[in-house]
Amino acid sequence: MTCSLRRARLAIPSLALLSLFCFAIPAFPQGPKPIPAEKPWMNSTLSPDERADLVLKEMTLDEKVALLHGVGMPTDDPVTPENAPSNRGVGYAVGVPRLGIPGIDMSDAAYGVRSSGVNGRYSTALPANVAAAASWDPEAAYEYGALIGRELRAQGFNMTLGGGVNLTREPRNGRTFEYLGEDPVLAGTLVGKLIAGTQSQHVIGDIKHYAFNDQESGRNSVNIHIGKRAARESDLLAFEIGIATGHPAAVMCSYNRLNGDFACENQYLLNEVLKKDWQFPGFVVSDWGGTHSTEKASAAGLDNEQPGRFSFGDRYKIAVDAGKVPVTELDDHVRRILRSMFAVGVIDYPRLRSVVDPFAGFETARKIEESGIVLLKNNKAALPLDAAKIRTIAVIGAHSDVGMISGGGSAQVDPIGGNAIAAPGQGATRWQEQIWFPTSPLKAIQARAPKATVTYDSGADPAAAAAVAKAADVVIVFAYQWESEGMDLESLSLPLHQDDLIAKVAAANPRTIVVLETGSPVTMPWVDAPAAILEAWYAGSDGANAVGNVLFGSVNPSGKLPNTFPKSEADLPHPNLTKPGPESEHFSGPVSPETRAAGLPPFEVTYDEGVKVGYKWYDAEKKPVLFPFGYGLSYTSYKYAGLQATSDKAVKVTFTVANTGARAGAEITQVYAALPASAQEPPKRLVGFSRVNLNAGEKKTVTVEIDPKYLSIFDEEKNAWTLLPGDYTLMVGGSSQSLPLKAVINLK
Ligand code: BGC
Repeated sequence: MTCSLRRARLAIPSLALLSLFCFAIPAFPQGPKPIPAEKPWMNSTLSPDERADLVLKEMTLDEKVALLHGVGMPTDDPVTPENAPSNRGVGYAVGVPRLGIPGIDMSDAAYGVRSSGVNGRYSTALPANVAAAASWDPEAAYEYGALIGRELRAQGFNMTLGGGVNLTREPRNGRTFEYLGEDPVLAGTLVGKLIAGTQSQHVIGDIKHYAFNDQESGRNSVNIHIGKRAARESDLLAFEIGIATGHPAAVMCSYNRLNGDFACENQYLLNEVLKKDWQFPGFVVSDWGGTHSTEKASAAGLDNEQPGRFSFGDRYKIAVDAGKVPVTELDDHVRRILRSMFAVGVIDYPRLRSVVDPFAGFETARKIEESGIVLLKNNKAALPLDAAKIRTIAVIGAHSDVGMISGGGSAQVDPIGGNAIAAPGQGATRWQEQIWFPTSPLKAIQARAPKATVTYDSGADPAAAAAVAKAADVVIVFAYQWESEGMDLESLSLPLHQDDLIAKVAAANPRTIVVLETGSPVTMPWVDAPAAILEAWYAGSDGANAVGNVLFGSVNPSGKLPNTFPKSEADLPHPNLTKPGPESEHFSGPVSPETRAAGLPPFEVTYDEGVKVGYKWYDAEKKPVLFPFGYGLSYTSYKYAGLQATSDKAVKVTFTVANTGARAGAEITQVYAALPASAQEPPKRLVGFSRVNLNAGEKKTVTVEIDPKYLSIFDEEKNAWTLLPGDYTLMVGGSSQSLPLKAVINLK
């Protein structure tokens, strides 16, 4: 079109010349836009910092303060002149239209774009973040983030609020499904890739909740106590790696207090660690309602209050006018926001509403789920199922006739097609109501066993379900544990008598396969009874097809656990989760806005397990577990050999892994290190991993280079990572408890 118009104008006669001309024209038909003399910051050859400085010089005090806060929650609030240009997400900061700086339009997007249903838009629900973590696949994490970025942009947003990376220190945390497991190296690497994927779409990326919001109970008031070394080597290390890997433009500070101060006004967290030690150049946004002061928060390093402006609106301006907030401090906040917008490209590539491609989204969601499903048990090769040999299949429980459960709270994605367990046209998503995605395991199973009679039983009556099970060739029981932001799990046991259901069904028919839909680990008093167990997590928009493909073997399972499954809650570092008293849970009666902003009185939780999160705890305490970190079976088998460890410039391990079975598969190879005794660390820590595709019979050489930080301890006195001299044992294998290869290197 462009070519023919130009040809007409320029009257170029020959086709050959025309094609030359067509190839020569740039992506923008008119060529790059000229840079207006009055807006020199539109020159994209300048650095983000230079561009931010040029804008800053032109801004009035009001314009600067306007960038520091939100204007309410457009999702809930009526349309006002300030939020009218927004996309009606959960947060909006008006830009500086006069200077060509757009508003920052924020949406939650943990496993897909939130609240799109009310706006008549489509969003793909990816499998829960914990499922992506189970794939141990940095490329899949990138694709996960890129899909979210594409859909945000297509819907008109330019900032995500995803990127959750709190460690699973407390597995009953109701947001475990939104996070990436218990290990900082795995979680940090994957969240970094996810963020890089999102930002590749010119959408501002975010990493959250910084830091130690590891339980939901009393999250607005809890005061977490932990020492600096343990903090830096655990939860903060996950953030450090995530930020270094993905360069998110934003960090969301969390609701809780840490060692006495709220995270969003915590000098140590924001200024000392994030901005000074890690040299983070982006901006800190408060969690929603997590700002508790003006001067203190500003001085500690908070850059942007969301969703409102109680502390960073008029009060901020007054504080600047009164000299209580230095102008240099104000300018630093503004500069950080502007430079981030330039760095990610939201100014050069303005958000552009277009069309979400739900078909491509389903395919990506399915593939990631397929690589994250974990086969926990498979006695006598009960799986994969051979459709040709099965006459009857009983499918039981968890609404598996119509759908699969999803994780709730601000992560909740509206299902394309509505809630599977609601009447057609009903089923809007509401805070803390379960949403079942219309992806039917029953249909997926029937489609893969067309000649078999496939029946469904709800499982409501375990005895009746057992009778159905007894009559079938094969039984597939679906069981779930729903979780959501704003609550913690009562326990790690399956709720609603599902333990009883599984026990009775498996007793009636030994060819029982259990499929779990959970975000957190589960205890399994019935673990010995069924023939096979699959952990499918919250499986996303096309979860049933992914589960069907694994059950019938067109996909070989390859996921490995990103969280330890303990035998019992008595084995957790904190067998009982500490909950707030009533005074720390809610304000009683009407309170002034000042009191509300200042926050609830604290209650204390001490992380005395320190760095011993997840497997590090069970290893150190010598507690046997149900299924260890890094564990997962396959339909084929792998053999490890030939470990060599070298430490010339960097520490590297090289080994071979062979597929010794008859099917292609992907093996997640893991490298752990035991530090010298002088380090006084838990017995081992993950220091590297690599997901390796192997055809049947194929053998590959794998090299993993280990970041020296992963072998170091955090020295509080030096305030630095320190590699201690001594012997390091490097261990390689397919799970934290199956490490057949060992080598010792001495580091000076
Ligand atoms: C959550 C954040 C979320 C924000 C906006 C908060 O309650 O903790 O994760 O991004 O709300 O919805």
